[in-house]
Amino acid sequence: MGILHLLFIFLSLQWKTSRSQTWIKAGYWYTGSEYPIPNINSPLFTHLICAFAYINPSTHELVLSASDQPYVSTFASMVKKSNPSVKPLLSIFTQNGNLGDGGNSSNFLLMTADPAYRKSFIRSSIKMARLYGFEGLDLYVTTLLRTKGNMSNLGILFNEWRVAVDQEKLILTMGAHYSPELDLVSYPVDSVCKNFDWVHILSYDYHTSKIDNFTAAHSALYDPSSKVNTDYGIKEWIKRGLPASKLVLGLAYHGYAWTLMDPKDNGIGAPAKGIAITRDGTMSYEYIKKYLRSYGVDSVYNSTYVINYCTIGSFWIGFDDVEAIRNKVAYAKGKGLLGYNVWQVPNDYNWELSKAAAQEDNYSRHKRLLAISLCTAASFILLLGCIICYMRKRIISKGRPITFHILVANFQHPLKIKNKK
Ligand SMILES: *[C@@H]1O[C@H](CO)[C@@H](O)[C@H](O)[C@H]1NC(C)=O
Ligand SMILES: *[C@@H]1O[C@H](CO)[C@@H](O)[C@H](O)[C@H]1NC(C)=O
Ligand SMILES: *[C@@H]1O[C@H](CO)[C@@H](O)[C@H](O)[C@H]1NC(C)=O
Ligand SMILES: *[C@@H]1O[C@H](CO)[C@@H](O)[C@H](O)[C@H]1NC(C)=O
Repeated sequence: MGILHLLFIFLSLQWKTSRSQTWIKAGYWYTGSEYPIPNINSPLFTHLICAFAYINPSTHELVLSASDQPYVSTFASMVKKSNPSVKPLLSIFTQNGNLGDGGNSSNFLLMTADPAYRKSFIRSSIKMARLYGFEGLDLYVTTLLRTKGNMSNLGILFNEWRVAVDQEKLILTMGAHYSPELDLVSYPVDSVCKNFDWVHILSYDYHTSKIDNFTAAHSALYDPSSKVNTDYGIKEWIKRGLPASKLVLGLAYHGYAWTLMDPKDNGIGAPAKGIAITRDGTMSYEYIKKYLRSYGVDSVYNSTYVINYCTIGSFWIGFDDVEAIRNKVAYAKGKGLLGYNVWQVPNDYNWELSKAAAQEDNYSRHKRLLAISLCTAASFILLLGCIICYMRKRIISKGRPITFHILVANFQHPLKIKNKK
């Protein structure tokens, strides 16, 4: 019976794919947030990433800043207290200077050019991971593309690093720009694909109120008027050879506030005078929620860009609320990506975004299970129909045997049956 075989194969394949894939729910925690590590809601995540360790420009070894040391060294044990199965990773900053400085990666690229320097870096990275109980390392390389470096050296570093982490059974991930290419430099995608377990796509901060004189969707999933959007970047990574199953979508738990030129012109792309509300225009989701509540204002969801925004007087805030987060996680599921990563965990408000993201995950899985069940039910009804039909014809036409295959084929082409009759 062919149909039963097919059904069986189909079902076992479905079970296999839904079981073997671990859906990644990763979250970054940045020391600069000063958010207490024990307060992190670990059960909402599969991986928690401590940011950052730095690279000493003269020894090329990993270092921690003196003030970060007590936090980074206890991160792994603390996040495991409320979720023993969460995997803590240590993220390595590859840029000269600090986050948000707009610096370049010249020191990092210098390290990649020398075999002895690479060895020092690799050895020290594994030593620090082991010392503080991290189960993996994350290389945060977003500004690489601002420096013209030798990308083949980067490929060599990744090859050597993979061999070393494999011996230690550590996970190796990368935090990367939303698109593999900018200006004339590109990531060595083949080497990234071969050597990293997956890539955290940092799909936000496309626009800021400090730089752009128009309101904008800083974490646009789509943008009808520009290539600067997440969907474009994801497609570009895949086109260049990184499979969807190694891509982990970035979710932003922050937004940007602009001052409008004209409060009545307040859509996405409206003329603006620059920052509003905070010193640099950035706002955590928590602050945005509290700010909106204090004015009794709700945000508007825009499905063209998949972001939320709101206007309060002449202030305009663009950010991701629950709807945007849900739809982005559904996009990641739909495109067959490996999961999502959050920047950054402490910016959530009562864990609303993290819960919504985790629920969308469950919801998508339920939808898939429902689809499987419906398919199964439909197949059985079809089969039952065939059997009944077969029995009746057998009884009517006494001894004129009809095989199952013909009946199944007839079922798929009702017009042909009509013509025959
Ligand atoms: C990179 O930044 C450093 C300062 O941290 C500067 O001295 C150097 O000239 C910069 N290099 C490039 C290629 O921009
Ligand atoms: C890049 O590095 C490799 C290996 O060190 C070297 O063979 C090659 O000449 C370098 N290319 C450039 C453009 O510097
Ligand atoms: C916005 O900035 C661009 C250049 O960055 C400039 O051409 C344009 O005139 C500015 N628009 C307004 C309304 O200030
Ligand atoms: C989203 O915003 C843009 C720009 O303001 C607008 O053109 C578009 O119609 C909006 N999309 C929806 C679905 O409302």
